[in-house]
Amino acid sequence: MMKDLLAKISGLRVLIIGDIMLDHYIIGDTARISPEAPVPVVAVENDKYALGAAANVALNVVQLGCHAEIVGKIGVDPMGELAKSLFLENKIRFDPKFESTAVDTITKSRVVVRGQQLCRIDRENRKSHYEIADNNLVDEICEKIRGVDAVILSDYAKGAISNRNVSKFIHTANGKGVFIAVDPKPINRLNFSGVSLITPNKAESVQLAGLEIEPHEEPPLEKICDIIRDKYSPKNLVITLGAEGMLIRNTDKQTLRIPTYAREVFDVSGAGDTSIACLTVALAIGIPLIRAAKFANIAAGIVVAKHGTAAISTNELLSSENG
Ligand SMILES: Nc1ncnc2c1ncn2[C@@H]1O[C@H](COP(=O)(O)OP(=O)(O)OP(=O)(O)O)[C@@H](O)[C@H]1O
Ligand SMILES: [Mg+2]
Repeated sequence: MMKDLLAKISGLRVLIIGDIMLDHYIIGDTARISPEAPVPVVAVENDKYALGAAANVALNVVQLGCHAEIVGKIGVDPMGELAKSLFLENKIRFDPKFESTAVDTITKSRVVVRGQQLCRIDRENRKSHYEIADNNLVDEICEKIRGVDAVILSDYAKGAISNRNVSKFIHTANGKGVFIAVDPKPINRLNFSGVSLITPNKAESVQLAGLEIEPHEEPPLEKICDIIRDKYSPKNLVITLGAEGMLIRNTDKQTLRIPTYAREVFDVSGAGDTSIACLTVALAIGIPLIRAAKFANIAAGIVVAKHGTAAISTNELLSSENG
């Protein structure tokens, strides 16, 4: 089953539009407190770089055996160079038109000592800097949309996707029958009506529905599905529930929970990126939602068993017992 699915999605062309980030890990050890201030002194052993946010979605798409092109702004700076070399290494296409001297490449640096994060250092500019606002650029993206099998809008609320460009992307995709998925950040208040798929996590689903619930209250997920459907009419709706798997709802208003399968969890970051990549490619080739969600749960389960924002490998998928 898994083998058939992987064979069918192989070679699919996917365009990922969103906020590109670079994950930076400064790995070292500490043995003393600084004489300058009451802080540990970290002796750096090595630096590691990985693609994050929309760029991690693109990485997942490539590792599933599909073609990926990423659209989003990076700066003309050392972190941008590192991002570009990671694109090249991972066969992710990137159009240099989206490099800009006006922005810093969004970078999250974590200082990690003996497996523990000591602090995180973020580099990023205001949202408006990353917005793809230029009409020529928006038109070029629409042209790219017409040439692919699926589009993923990976919104991390850093500015790339805005209310000025999102409706054009959705309209273009729908006009050409191209599958278009959104991983939403509700604080961005984007109008993504009429998309093929939305994949909020539990907290995001509550915000999308505009409900206010107590911190420890269990959200009424079925009601939330109804509200999201009424507001945005997505063709498919998947609420990711972390360790509890996924809640899916298709057009016949049937709600179903798909559990994860038990495994040791190391790092849940990037699980949402894996979910949307898998759901999108599977649904784009016509796999029913239930099967697509099972596939995405298996893949995301493999990723959370690894350190850092890891991507999937087809070998692991093939050897997954539930495949
Ligand atoms: N602890 C876990 N055990 C098993 N599977 C998990 C776990 N956490 C996440 N997953 C898998 O990853 C999917 C997405 O996770 P989650 O709902 O946490 O998304 P998210 O909050 O968007 O994640 P992200 O941190 O990437 O933004 C889940 O539906 C599930 O398949
Ligand atoms: Mg997420």
